[in-house]
Amino acid sequence: MDKKVYKLMNDQINKELYSAYLYLQFADYYKENGLNGFANWYEIQAQEERDHALIFRNYLHENDEKARLEAIPQPDKKFKNFLEPLEAGLAHEKFVTGLINNIYAAADAVKDYRAMKFLDWFIEEQQEEEDNASSMVSQMKLFGKDPKGLYDLDREYQARAYKVPSPLAKN
Ligand code: FEO
Repeated sequence: MDKKVYKLMNDQINKELYSAYLYLQFADYYKENGLNGFANWYEIQAQEERDHALIFRNYLHENDEKARLEAIPQPDKKFKNFLEPLEAGLAHEKFVTGLINNIYAAADAVKDYRAMKFLDWFIEEQQEEEDNASSMVSQMKLFGKDPKGLYDLDREYQARAYKVPSPLAKN
């Protein structure tokens, strides 16, 4: 595998694990403030992020490369209200989309069509993750100031259930 593509993919394992860590911190914030549905939503998101890390790790192994696990930075965000984690989540997903695009561009530059095909799933996934994050921000702005509205949102997020992502389900 091209050195740059390898390095970006291996770094992405760390970035996805950091995302899991970040979303666990969001879940803690909501749990500590009595919003168990929001906490559930982010606990599941953290599971999905760990899955994303595993998908990159599997791809490296399937291509005879070593996965090198690096230290995960501490998530250290402070929140003043229930909207702030949601806005931070949307900004983070946009950042991750940029990372995936960079890997894609590096693969494209060396005609690594296998890597590009592999990354297609992540490109679609990022679209979905940005859509979800953006709609959570809008819903909080629309309904979150009213206690009944906030209660209903919390119930809705409580209903989210974990599903194994398709690239892991095939293993
Ligand atoms: Fe792994 Fe939220 O992107």
